Amino acid sequence: MSNAIEPIPGTSDIFPDECRLWQRLEDTARAVFSRYGYGEIRSPVMERTEVFQRTIGDDTDIVQKEMYTFTDRGGRSLTLRPEGTAGIMRAIACAGLATRDQWRLYYFGPMFRGERPAAGRKRQFHQIGAECVGGVAPEIDAECIAMLMDFLQSMGITGTTLLLNSRGVAADREVVARTYSSYFSGHIDSLCADCRRRLAANVWRILDCKNESCQNAIAAAPPMTELLGEDSKAYFARVCGALATLGIPYRIESRLVRGLDYYAHTVFEVVHPRAGAQSSIAGGGRYEFTFPGMKTPMPGVGFAAGVERLLLVQQDDGQANAPTPVTDVYIVSLGAEALNANLGLAAELRRAGLVVLMDLESRGMKAQMRSANKYGARYAVIRGDNELQRQVVMGKDMATAAQSELPIATAVDELRALIQKRQQANVPLTQ
Ligand code: HAM
Repeated sequence: MSNAIEPIPGTSDIFPDECRLWQRLEDTARAVFSRYGYGEIRSPVMERTEVFQRTIGDDTDIVQKEMYTFTDRGGRSLTLRPEGTAGIMRAIACAGLATRDQWRLYYFGPMFRGERPAAGRKRQFHQIGAECVGGVAPEIDAECIAMLMDFLQSMGITGTTLLLNSRGVAADREVVARTYSSYFSGHIDSLCADCRRRLAANVWRILDCKNESCQNAIAAAPPMTELLGEDSKAYFARVCGALATLGIPYRIESRLVRGLDYYAHTVFEVVHPRAGAQSSIAGGGRYEFTFPGMKTPMPGVGFAAGVERLLLVQQDDGQANAPTPVTDVYIVSLGAEALNANLGLAAELRRAGLVVLMDLESRGMKAQMRSANKYGARYAVIRGDNELQRQVVMGKDMATAAQSELPIATAVDELRALIQKRQQANVPLTQ
């Protein structure tokens, strides 16, 4: 096939069988998140570039190398959202933070990053995320993490590890940055070219480097939690205490900074050994956003999980069998008049809540019965001109091949009752 009609590398077409798995994730997320008082937000997939640039951080990989940025016809620089948080904070800033005590929002949708495609790493990928905006308390962070773990558990995803750290508050930054600058200056020979540049530009980003050559120096760097001020340490201790109360196991990963610069205080990631080279299936933390013209920063905490990675892990756990679609009735028509009358019968059966397919191409009986089989129909309803005249339909139980005639006046009710009975008792229709 010509390359011209293949999807762009790192993007995918998702057909109904796979979509059913996506919908199950989304339905579970809706059910779990709404129990914590969250409501859905749908925000634009494009934003002005500044919305992401300064908030995610000029020195991050996302802003430096991965954003899909273009100039529109009006000369504006726009960016396809590489993540959900910045756009949602922009939306809340527009709506007015103070119009609610707390904004508890969740979202699903595509995000765009120009990364090298691999298993579980796409250029258009999809996140299920949540943000709790407006309040600051360690217990809010813990509850948010609990909601993520609750969601993963409800999806039957096991074998995860929750990694936890604190980046402290703005006041701690200078001390921490100074300590790391002096430490990494002493290890400059083992750092990659990017990290040598980061040493001067933004030393925090060295801790997030995935380059093999930098790993030894990073692993031996001073633990961040020990460098923080007393207030930040106390805040982090309360997050850990609340997680313990909630019975949520975690591992402190004292060099975890995450790939975005907006975090303050708690940061976390959920990793799974089978999530591809990246290993993280979800990540998040507490943050502060200040948009131009704002006097005080807007605080929040949230997370996002990658749908493609959740599915990868789920499939590996054998949890992800797509529920097979059910066709209750396949209508077989013989003759033009019967076909016309059967259009009405199909509409009536659908109004009665049944899943109905029918042949609309006037094919032969054999071809229509083959389709009934192919679609896994529970019941075939056959009506030709003869049945039409006698005001009956022929019903065929596809599992047992038993046939019976049903008067048209009661056929819809009878079929519905038989199918309900079969659904409840899982018995063949003609019994
Ligand atoms: P993130 O860690 O950049 O955080 O992304 C969250 C999740 O999105 C990752 O754990 C991963 O599952 C998925 N993901 C990221 N990049 C890709 C990719 N190229 N292909 C497939 N999946 C990917 C954020 O985006 C933050 N906005 C999370 C957050 C919300 N923090 C606070 N609130």
